[in-house]
Amino acid sequence: MKQFISVDDVTDIDALVQKALMYKQQPFHSKTLGINKRIGCLFLNPSMRTRLSTQIAAQNLGMESIVFNVGSEGWSLEFEEGVIMNGTSVEHVKDAAPVFGNYFDILAIRTFPLLKNREDDYSERFINQFVKYCGIPVVSLESATLHPLQSLTDVMTIQEMLQFSSLEKSKRPKVVLTWAPHVKALPQCVANSFSQWITSWGKTDFVITHPDGYTLDEKFTKGATIITDQEKALKNADFVYVKNWSSYDQYGIMLSNDSSWMLNSEKLKHTNNAKVMHCLPVRRNVELSDEILDGASSIVTRQASNRVWAAQAVLSQILGRENISING
Ligand code: CP
Repeated sequence: MKQFISVDDVTDIDALVQKALMYKQQPFHSKTLGINKRIGCLFLNPSMRTRLSTQIAAQNLGMESIVFNVGSEGWSLEFEEGVIMNGTSVEHVKDAAPVFGNYFDILAIRTFPLLKNREDDYSERFINQFVKYCGIPVVSLESATLHPLQSLTDVMTIQEMLQFSSLEKSKRPKVVLTWAPHVKALPQCVANSFSQWITSWGKTDFVITHPDGYTLDEKFTKGATIITDQEKALKNADFVYVKNWSSYDQYGIMLSNDSSWMLNSEKLKHTNNAKVMHCLPVRRNVELSDEILDGASSIVTRQASNRVWAAQAVLSQILGRENISING
């Protein structure tokens, strides 16, 4: 694996999921794979789970990790080509990225979308410029449109839960991604990425439900059934993934904050005793009720803890490729 930006970088999702599950059983199975290697984790935006799980994953592989909060501690970066830098940006990514490429063996980056201009965000300009100029493998810690480490974890968690499930082995599990209300406009990353991974995995009946105006980019949802009636969508679901996103069509706008879309125990009765997922952080009693989050159907903590093993599987795939060196 040369980079991990989207599901397109993965040749065999099942093999990667099995690797993550193996690391969950044997965290130190590859404890020398990353000896004398270093990962730089650059954060242009905040994080808790992604940051800590990636550092733990690197450590489990014997790799050193250095976190750099570019957004709050570094020089402000310029991403525009050919710009006259007489404004507030101090350093061009063209100059900074090769330096990171010389300091590290793998570069991991979190950059959120600005949610102002759809074309800009969906061009993935920020992460692509790091890929272009750093010369070493890049891992997305969430970019403008996708969150692949989260999605690999989500697929892994579904696979793991199926082992404990009373679900008939021959039956395809029904997975529902439901939009939820929120207090502010959020990116489409988690929803896009989850849709992309679940449809690529191809082992579930996948339904997306959201209010009018919240259709995701069809590039990521091809193969999903899309229903605007939440109750109908939830019928017989085995897994319900709850997530807010802002509008893709009326880009970055919070069109509705309809509290009737919050998942609660009453709605869960329509499901097949579904397990409830969320990437966290979650707004309690806005996106999901206390009742659900504190109850037996919630697997959000399992999901968050699985972030370590998913990150470890990805880093080990990259470390395992030939000729990785400090100069890429
Ligand atoms: N789910 C997730 O990415 O969490 P953090 O924003 O805390 O990293």
